[in-house]
Amino acid sequence: MLSRRPAERTSRPPTRLRTDGRGRPGRAPRLLALTVALLCTSGLLTPAHGTTADGAAPRAAAEEGSQRVRALVARMTLDEKLSFVHWTAGAEGGPLARGVGYLPGVPRLGIPPLQAADGPVGVRINGSRATALPTPTALAATFDDGLAAAYGKVIGHEGRALGQDVVLAPMVNNIRVPHGGRNFETFSEDPLVTSRTAAAEIRGIQGQGLMATVKHFAGNNQETDRFTVDAAVDEQTLHETELPGFRSAVEAGAASVMCAYNGVNGTPACSSDQLLQKVLREQWGFRGWVMSDWLATKATTDITKGLDQELGLEMGKPTDPVPDSKHFGAALKAAVTAGTVPEAALDRSVVRIVGQMERFGLLDPAGGPARPARDAQAGRATAREIAENGAVLLRNTTTAAGLPALPLTGTAATSLAVIGDSALHPKVSGLGSAHVVPDAAEAPLDALRERAGANAAVAYEPGIERLGAPLTATELSPAFQNGRQLDPGGDRAFYDGTLTVPADGDYRIGVRVDGGLAILQIEGQAPVYAADSFSETTSVVLRLTRGTHKLAMSGWAWPDRPLSVDLTWVTPERANRNIQRAVAAAAAADTAVVFAQDEGSEGWDRPSLSLPDGQDALIAAVAAANPNTVVVLNTGSSVLMPWLGSTRAVLQMWYPGQEGARATAALLYGDVNPGGKLTQTFPAAEDAHPMAGRPERFPGVAGKQEYSEGIHVGYRWYEREGVAPLFPFGHGLSYTSFSYRDLAVERTATGATVRVTVRNTGRSTGKEVVQAYLGPSDRITAPQAVKKLAGYTKVTLAPGQEKRVAVTVDARQLQYWDTARHSWRDAPGARTVKVGSSSADIRLTGRLAP
Ligand code: BGC
Repeated sequence: MLSRRPAERTSRPPTRLRTDGRGRPGRAPRLLALTVALLCTSGLLTPAHGTTADGAAPRAAAEEGSQRVRALVARMTLDEKLSFVHWTAGAEGGPLARGVGYLPGVPRLGIPPLQAADGPVGVRINGSRATALPTPTALAATFDDGLAAAYGKVIGHEGRALGQDVVLAPMVNNIRVPHGGRNFETFSEDPLVTSRTAAAEIRGIQGQGLMATVKHFAGNNQETDRFTVDAAVDEQTLHETELPGFRSAVEAGAASVMCAYNGVNGTPACSSDQLLQKVLREQWGFRGWVMSDWLATKATTDITKGLDQELGLEMGKPTDPVPDSKHFGAALKAAVTAGTVPEAALDRSVVRIVGQMERFGLLDPAGGPARPARDAQAGRATAREIAENGAVLLRNTTTAAGLPALPLTGTAATSLAVIGDSALHPKVSGLGSAHVVPDAAEAPLDALRERAGANAAVAYEPGIERLGAPLTATELSPAFQNGRQLDPGGDRAFYDGTLTVPADGDYRIGVRVDGGLAILQIEGQAPVYAADSFSETTSVVLRLTRGTHKLAMSGWAWPDRPLSVDLTWVTPERANRNIQRAVAAAAAADTAVVFAQDEGSEGWDRPSLSLPDGQDALIAAVAAANPNTVVVLNTGSSVLMPWLGSTRAVLQMWYPGQEGARATAALLYGDVNPGGKLTQTFPAAEDAHPMAGRPERFPGVAGKQEYSEGIHVGYRWYEREGVAPLFPFGHGLSYTSFSYRDLAVERTATGATVRVTVRNTGRSTGKEVVQAYLGPSDRITAPQAVKKLAGYTKVTLAPGQEKRVAVTVDARQLQYWDTARHSWRDAPGARTVKVGSSSADIRLTGRLAP
């Protein structure tokens, strides 16, 4: 199956595509991933979890589900039952083919079809637009459960409105590897932040009647070898660092859990009786269903290990969907018929799935609650609010005039050189199955121009272009007309010609697509795939020699939209000129605002923590030309900042979603006061983080990644090893300042309460995230963190205002995982309590009495 595809030109929409950024032929793991990419293209409801204590006996299959659901399943034929345990492509050509999967239901029994779509950053339906929310790292940086619920509400509402019943979100895997390609798609390196954010988001999603699927259970913390790598992780580390987010999701009532591609301690996650039965069901009392990630079902017998549903592979054309289920379709039927897999196991899975349909009202006579209309305005408002609240002001120093660089005021606010590609082409979201095509996304440059006012001078220079200029008839013969290439549903080669290159050099080629997939093939180079379901623009650097090269383009269009393609390039000469122009513009303005971006993506880890494409050199050159340089980062995760000391300010906007432009302008101009905090440590150097120099940790050796840092994930590792980060966990500045006093700590029936008085000592209203960290217990021998976040709360204060703030420390934060007893246990004894504005900015220290 895998070998068949790359040779053929597939017409199936790829869900995620990637070249290696320089267009070089992919290395083996990349090829595999690319091959697969090409193939694949509260009203609170009743909780789905039980209250089963750790270690309680498993619920027998017969006990699962309501009587009604069990009776329905008893009336199903074998084929009808099988139709629930693997997703299919759905009805031809219609919207059903565009989500991730479709179940036909059993109309004769009043069970309607079910539809599922990605994902964690908004509802992703191929060929449809939806609200592109800020990336989950931005959401987590708000440290605000209310905003997480609002984020979920947008996904829940839009998912229902767009014909979906299940969303494959949120992703709660730990940010363990700074290079992790999907870090942007998840929340934090800290299990408490992840747990709280996930629970609130799930309640928000499901409160709208959409089922949430928490993913990827478990240990999917890197993309390198993601289909095969085995995560070797000890029990305490697993339960204390990676699993809390999943447990919290189950407790919040998540309808479904997606098991991961990778293995955990020698067993594929989707075949792991230990994870799927023991942990998920017996320890946590989960009553929803488990689906596999795409292609992650390994065997028909996985259904006896706790996997309920296969997310199989869809092959063929969009107009000719061929649902493929390798294990839970015909193969499972044969196994059940032969008696090698008990039919009771199949029944149990179907009961779990239909049980959740019942819980969400989908078995009601009308086929479920009425679908609402999309509320794009509400989506926009939430996207904007979260982009503003999740932004993290990393650095803010004073100008020569003695004023803080940010917010922009006076002439610093009206004489700007705005530099960087993402100022003009907004970086909305990361790449892969979490990519959402928004209704619209304004350019930050336009928002800044508007905010700066008509009398301001706002120059723009890209510095480094991702697309460049259209290829003209001088270079391309015959001429290529940018724009519409194929009618809706079209599928063919649409250009065949030659590209004439004036001199040897590195040429950046840009492909912008709307309405489908385009494949660019330059003779002797790896093909460049560009699909709007993955990213509207694709940009690669190719080393080309002087002379003429064959260039061909093919593609297909969505059934109901034409395919429009633009082909552009940046010659080496133009690239040099761009840098010079950016530096000159910076020198001529009072303030230089440089937008920098990276390309977090599913399928690939970042090759380095540096900004790609020479952006570090661009920032350094601009900062050398203008000391009042402010950097706006559109990155999904941490990046190195070799230029930091020569800049005045750095504002981390993440991938800020479709409303990022106005949020950025509002923050830079001080209409909004930044209050977000980092939920991951930013390393100071490529050799100064938990994975550095430890290939067995990342990317793994011989197919295995050792979690040998143990429970010391993220900031815990930096503290223990005494390694200084660039920016610590919990860090984030404000345009105002806060003082802390009068710490009081007391034990309560449910854990502890930490009280502190916080005062706004500055001149603007601001939000402070008050963080309480616990030191280790001296009564246990199991590994403990030097310091771990045990509770936090966010407070809004006007200038001069103070509040007595209470931070709740849940009983679970005072426990540790006892490996000998395979359960949580209280860690007795006194504990140090440190309260502060970041993990490194501790303002008060107290003690929790034994
Ligand atoms: C990703 C999942 C996603 C699924 C469906 C997989 O490759 O790992 O996160 O939900 O595809 O698009």
